[in-house]
Amino acid sequence: MEFEIKVEKLKESRISQFDPKNIGFGKLFTDHMFVCDYEGGEWKDFRIVPYGPFQLSPATSALHYGQAIFEGMKAFASIKNEHDICLFRPLDNAKRLNISAERMAMPILPESIFMQGLHALLDLDRQWIPREEGGALYMRPYMFATDDFIGVKPSERYTFAIFCCPVGPYYNKALRVKVEEEYSRAAPGGVGFTKCAGNYGASLYPTAQAQKEGYDQILWTDPIEHKWIEETGTTNFFAVINDTIVTPALTQTLLAGITRNSVIKSLKHLGYKVEERPLSIDEIVTAHQNHEIKELFITGTAATLMNLDGFAHRGTYHEVLSNGDNQISKTVKQFLDDLKVQRIDDPFGWLSCI
Ligand code: COI
Repeated sequence: MEFEIKVEKLKESRISQFDPKNIGFGKLFTDHMFVCDYEGGEWKDFRIVPYGPFQLSPATSALHYGQAIFEGMKAFASIKNEHDICLFRPLDNAKRLNISAERMAMPILPESIFMQGLHALLDLDRQWIPREEGGALYMRPYMFATDDFIGVKPSERYTFAIFCCPVGPYYNKALRVKVEEEYSRAAPGGVGFTKCAGNYGASLYPTAQAQKEGYDQILWTDPIEHKWIEETGTTNFFAVINDTIVTPALTQTLLAGITRNSVIKSLKHLGYKVEERPLSIDEIVTAHQNHEIKELFITGTAATLMNLDGFAHRGTYHEVLSNGDNQISKTVKQFLDDLKVQRIDDPFGWLSCI
């Protein structure tokens, strides 16, 4: 079904603020944003407006009770067809948004609204897409509750919006992570598998503590035994143990990363052995002592794929970056980077080019 989208264009583009040689991450936003509202049981008022502030009541329920969910996704300039923009697995983001929405008692957003809004916005702001190697247009679809009402209940009104920013790498160097055994990210029956804002808010204090100790990020362990590796504060986690790539199996407390899934499928396509299974920190420490850890890496939309320099566990830092040439992570990263810009064929049908 097609929806009518009202378009109000920015009078003068801000594109001159964009320096393709110095892109950064998440500070500069493109000219427009897509917005629609939910009220009376339906989505309505589909519009593209200049990027700018919302007017919100101080009682806006998302700010009090946390009904706020988001997605992160990227579009790339095709090197095959100069004018094409290629979106990477956009429908998977639309589906995951709705998984989060259901758990957070928020309304389902029809995938057709998600896709149509995204396409219309990208079409209008296509000049912002970085063409430099490693650059992308990051898109942030999100939904939040807008009732102005004090009382804990699902809101009756919501806003869904998408804005974009040209981005370079989220991380610029291999990370030093601290294995977190005191704080927990999520618990069984909770919201760990959703992309709700609170999951990230709750990670900030333990991450800041780790950063004070000289680490870049935390590596979460499970909330019951603090034994099983889950994910980092911003990404999923992979270990290359001898010739096998192992990543924690998905549970209720892990985010089902779209990049995680893409890396697993790409590795298998390239002929590597991949295991999704419970992975304990003890296994990693022992494998490291036995020189069996060849690479550690993390994956996410923003981070793409980044190696770990090493990990701190109970006060001991285990350096792994020096173990080898990171051939497997380099190979799969290159494969996905090439696929996203149409340098190679896309055997999975992941790209949607407009
Ligand atoms: C993403 O990778 O897109 C995320 O949403 C994670 C966030 C830390 C930037």
